[in-house]
Amino acid sequence: MTASSAAVLPQDAPAIEVEAPRHAAAVEALVDRAFGPGRFAKSSERLREGNRKLDDCSFVALRGDQVIGSVRLWPVTIGGKPVAFLGPLAVDATQRSAGLGQALVETACAAAAKAGWKAVLLVGDAPYFARIGFSAAPAAKVVMPGPADQRRVLLKALVSGGDEGFEGRVAVA
Ligand SMILES: CC(C)(COP(=O)(O)OP(=O)(O)OC[C@H]1O[C@@H](n2cnc3c(N)ncnc32)[C@H](O)[C@@H]1OP(=O)(O)O)[C@@H](O)C(=O)NCCC(=O)NCCS
Repeated sequence: MTASSAAVLPQDAPAIEVEAPRHAAAVEALVDRAFGPGRFAKSSERLREGNRKLDDCSFVALRGDQVIGSVRLWPVTIGGKPVAFLGPLAVDATQRSAGLGQALVETACAAAAKAGWKAVLLVGDAPYFARIGFSAAPAAKVVMPGPADQRRVLLKALVSGGDEGFEGRVAVA
């Protein structure tokens, strides 16, 4: 499977830009609001601690100066094989169901493909991410570094066959 085409957003759509250091505090606040206090207990968080996000593949959605959406990608390995790990993805509660979440994921995946990554991994709801090309089947033998529902461990190929052959423990690259 390859990257799907960008979501069509209305004329007054927010801007999607590469995240800059000046956005970091607003991104943290947005993610805190979206995920609540349980945020740091997630096994996904183990892959972000001590890691450094992929700056060219992490994006914010802006309405004026206000950060209303965020997606970040991180370098990890699965059984030693590199893959980009997506998360957190968050859209401000007042701005949802306008295609922004999908547009952020598609923008990050397109940037990752351009940067040479062959696949993107995430832990999330399959009914939402399936429409953006993510699937649990190729991630069946992928082991997260903590408790995770295997049906929520999803991979998306960025090039033909890019999601094949992943097996083993996910670790910080
Ligand atoms: C998930 C999230 C990023 C989606 O943002 P968004 O901008 O509303 O996304 P989109 O506009 O692309 O898609 C919205 C659609 O997805 C659906 N959807 C949202 N979350 C869903 C989920 N977990 N499972 C299934 N469908 C979901 C919405 O009901 C909506 O459906 P509609 O188009 O029929 O109204 C946003 O709801 C959010 O920040 N949630 C809290 C944090 C979170 O759960 N992040 C993802 C975990 S990895």
